[in-house]
Formats: sequence, structure tokens, C-alpha cells
Amino acid sequence: MKYSIAIDGPAGAGKSTIAKALAEKLGYIYVDTGAMYRAMGLYFLRLGIAGEDQAAISEFCKNVRVEIVYQEGIQQVFLNGENVTAFLREETVGRMASSISVYPEVRLKLVELQREIAEKENVIMDGRDIGTYVLPNADLKIYLTASAEARANRRYQELKEKGIESQFEVIKQDMEERDARDKNREFAPLRQAEDAVLVDTSDMTVEEVINSILAII
Ligand code: DC
Repeated sequence: MKYSIAIDGPAGAGKSTIAKALAEKLGYIYVDTGAMYRAMGLYFLRLGIAGEDQAAISEFCKNVRVEIVYQEGIQQVFLNGENVTAFLREETVGRMASSISVYPEVRLKLVELQREIAEKENVIMDGRDIGTYVLPNADLKIYLTASAEARANRRYQELKEKGIESQFEVIKQDMEERDARDKNREFAPLRQAEDAVLVDTSDMTVEEVINSILAII
């Protein structure tokens, strides 16, 4: 019997930080599904296909291969045999991932891969539709959220620490646009599953969030 924990929520709520730490504590595998959508985004960026061109995206989806490999416990994403993990955090890739993730053809391909992993391993999987669509029978579902203000501020600080200049208002607006797209798409939109536990991290430290979820577990 394999166990699964689903963590969903909007961008910047802290999902990956929390999921990674919990996976380490519990000895589970951390599955970052956003990275899979980003790999798909990178694929279409490289092909020069516009995010709005659903016909071309559906067509090119048929032959793409996205694979996940764990190296020393860290997820590596392979796109048609190439390890593309290092390219996935770029803003252009994130924006493209957000655009193409509305298409069922893209989602179904990745959902199949996500379910396969969860069948074989104990997982903590984070994303937008894990508790509602990918793993409806997950043993525990967490809906991790925070105010747009807090999420944008975290992203702003993160960029600042990396020495990257950015504008808080621009980040916040971009985040709100992405939230709207994730919540309003027709197929598997972002929403809290009925049986998910809501954790609002706006005024919590990482440590506090981890401890509160461990207590729930
Ligand atoms: O979590 P992230 O920023 O790495 O995700 C990138 C994009 O992928 C995000 O804009 C929404 C999409 N995504 C999704 O639609 N479903 C998931 N399970 C994970 C990510």
C-alpha cells in the first residue's frame, strides 16, 4: 500500500518548500508537478509555438516525452531525453507553462505520468489539481494558500536575494493573472478539494507550517 499526500494552492504559497521538507522528514518522494508543466512550456517555447495556438500544441503534444528521474532524492525532469531541470525556473518558462496548462491535451499527458509515480512510491505531490483530479483518493490533502500580498512579497525577496532587480507591483500583478488563469480554466481548475485541510501561511514561518502539517499527519 502506497501513501500519498496532495498539496495544492496558488503560486508563492510555499508549496514546494513545504513539500520538499516534509518529503525529507517522512522519507517520501517529492513530486513537483509544476516542473512537468514547465518542461512542456519549454518544449513549446523552443518550437516557437505561441501559447494561444491550441491546434499546434495539441498536435505537438502527441510526440513529446516528459520523464522524471530521481538523482540523490532530487527530481530531475527530462524532455525528449534531455535533462532540462536547470532551465525550468526562468520567468519565460513559467509564463508559458501557465498558458499551455489550460489545454486538456497537455494535462492528460502529465496526469498519466503523475499517477504512475504515485502508484509506485509514497509521494508528496504538489500542484494545482492534485487533490481534486490527479489523486482524488490521496491519504491527506492540504490546500496551502496565502494572501496575494504575502506571496508577491516572498517572490520579490527571493529574487532580491538572487541579486535580480524586480518591481513588487509587477510581480503581484503577474501572480494575480496566473491565479485567475489557474482558477478559471475549464479543465481541472485550481480549487480546494472538499476534504482538503486549509492552511493559510500568510503569517506563518516555514517551520510553523511544517509543524502544523506534521501535526495533522
Ligand atoms: O507551480 P509552478 O509555478 O511551477 O507551476 C507552473 C505552472 O503550471 C502554473 O502556472 C500552473 C501550472 N500547473 C498546473 O496547471 N497544474 C499543476 N498540477 C501544476 C502546475
